[in-house]
Amino acid sequence: MTATAASMRVRGPASSQADGLTAEPGHAPADDPRQFWLAAFRNVRAETERRASFLSAEDQVVQSMPDASPTKWHRAHVTWFFEEFLLRRFSPGYKPFDQRFAYLFNSYYVSAGPRQARPQRGLITRPGAAEVTAYRAHVDEGVAALIASTNDLAAIVPIIEIGLNHEQQHQELLLTDILHAFSLNATDPAYDPQWQWPKRQSANGNAGTVIGGIHRIGCEDGVFCFDNEHPAHQVLLQPVRLSPSLVTNGEWLDFLADGGYTTPTLWLSDGYATVEAQGWNAPGYWQNRDGAWFAMTLGGLRRVEPDLPVCHVSYYEADAFARWAGKHLPTEAEWEVAARSGALADAFGMVWQWTRSAYSPYPGYCAAEGALGEYNGKFMVNQMVLRGSSLATPANHARPSYRNFFYPMARWQFSGLRLAEYESRVVQ
Ligand SMILES: [Fe+2]
Repeated sequence: MTATAASMRVRGPASSQADGLTAEPGHAPADDPRQFWLAAFRNVRAETERRASFLSAEDQVVQSMPDASPTKWHRAHVTWFFEEFLLRRFSPGYKPFDQRFAYLFNSYYVSAGPRQARPQRGLITRPGAAEVTAYRAHVDEGVAALIASTNDLAAIVPIIEIGLNHEQQHQELLLTDILHAFSLNATDPAYDPQWQWPKRQSANGNAGTVIGGIHRIGCEDGVFCFDNEHPAHQVLLQPVRLSPSLVTNGEWLDFLADGGYTTPTLWLSDGYATVEAQGWNAPGYWQNRDGAWFAMTLGGLRRVEPDLPVCHVSYYEADAFARWAGKHLPTEAEWEVAARSGALADAFGMVWQWTRSAYSPYPGYCAAEGALGEYNGKFMVNQMVLRGSSLATPANHARPSYRNFFYPMARWQFSGLRLAEYESRVVQ
């Protein structure tokens, strides 16, 4: 994420509560911005530690594939972000916890210096988990002191806000990455044995409404957004109806039974090549045991429930399913307009939904100068956009304009889909 003028504007406590960096009631007087931001900072930092608390020190070291990072690395990297972009620049007396950590915990900020190769993050056995805890405490103390003492709160609030939204993104990755690691353990470990799917919203038999014409998408005024949601702009939609419901496991089982994974004509060329190369015959984490399908979840191995949304499918699989169903994936603009109209059940909080939109800049988009300009803009090629949010997304970290993006073969995120029908196929 970059610091465009719009996304970096300083906003007061009231507007910040609207986008979710909400301090605990009673702990953040609305008229005291220092207290508000301190409480917001502590809340987000505590949520990271809460999520990590389900994991042992050994769990926190493992890196199961180059795309996934160890829990310990996530905890340290988000801390480095505050140290690098906030404390080193705005807190003159701050002493880094350990100068060497910048190399270990910088992710992809080339402007910020050399860094550990991403596929080798699992080799960082030291510092240990306890030392990372101490690192976090050291930076927490530095940030609290800066918030209390600064003479220019307006200058640091945008960095705090970005840092907290960044940490929330890693809170989701912490879960998706450890689930991938556990999926490779023959004992099927549970991240949380008590974990359950969120309650689904009901589409109430609603067939969906047709949308079309000129609409506005992108970041709304008064809401924190990442730079890739800027600038808001008009789009022209052809008449289309998005399914109010997410595609379910039951529907996916029909796709399987109909030879979905073995019918090349349903697939993009790259998609079918991936199916063959990876040996895919079902969504990620599915296992067939004695004729019954099970799936690895945060609660361990569970029976595949037909009524639940299908999850851990790649763009390639979503695209093939849509073709098999005689429908389409929506564009991201169609998804956003439909979501804003209230026409989509489970738009948020279940699974990210693949769109058929390539991840590219909105008209007029410019990344900011400097290291933070590397946050989003340099990834705007070869990836596809997902919309909504997932069961792993912090509840206050979702909005209609949010643009997630992954490579089309990725399926370790909580990714699913909903379908779209165009006018020629829409039955009025
Ligand atoms: Fe990051």
